[in-house]
Amino acid sequence: MEYPIIDTHAHYDDEQFDKDREKLLTILPEVGIELVVNVGASIESSKTTIALTKKYPHVYGAVGVHPSNTEELNEENFQWLSQAARQEKIVAVGEIGLDYYYDEPDRQIQKKWFERQIELAENMGLPIIIHSREAARDTYEIMKANHCENIGGVVHCFSYSVEMAKLFLDMGFYLGLGGVVTFKNAKTVKEVASYVPLDRIVLETDCPYLSPVPYRGKRNSSMNLPYVIETIAQIKEITEEEVRRATNENARKLYRLT
Ligand code: NI
Repeated sequence: MEYPIIDTHAHYDDEQFDKDREKLLTILPEVGIELVVNVGASIESSKTTIALTKKYPHVYGAVGVHPSNTEELNEENFQWLSQAARQEKIVAVGEIGLDYYYDEPDRQIQKKWFERQIELAENMGLPIIIHSREAARDTYEIMKANHCENIGGVVHCFSYSVEMAKLFLDMGFYLGLGGVVTFKNAKTVKEVASYVPLDRIVLETDCPYLSPVPYRGKRNSSMNLPYVIETIAQIKEITEEEVRRATNENARKLYRLT
């Protein structure tokens, strides 16, 4: 039996799973996916995430509002989020951060709620899941100013340079690697995968998005993670078993699971 896999970042609340969510989530432990962390990206998906954690023993959750959705936040639903973060199987605040690719809403709004959610995680004693797209510097500056080295967490779907990777690693963060590392043209991500120490990598799907080769473009699920493991093993010139073991242990440390 191969060492079991932890998917540290999934969106099984997504409507693309409406037809077969139950079937899919039920069989995951039988196909070597030991545990899944479903990640909120809005108030609504944070609610669905909590429901999924209650229904499936192997599903844990994160609650938070993605930068592109921060316009929906106000003091009232932020209060709700604070309560949601206290739920038993909620292991992180996320995904939170900055997205300058879509660049909406206004950057000041994104920054404000990024900081508020960092503060929330700190108060709850939870790690954070960072979403950062074309906003490396600002993300890093805000994390630094808010002493995220004391909070910990993961930069999910890491897409920046080796130089940026070093900065986030120095802050004590894990880097999330997923399907993109298998893409032929993903030179930078492959460089980062080579550079980052094995004890700082966690596996993620971001499903239904970012399916690895040979399923690129199709709906993703945790069952595709062996392709990501294979690629990381090749890049680092180690065995797949070593990747499985290390990333499982890293995920447990990241989310403080025993
Ligand atoms: Ni995500």
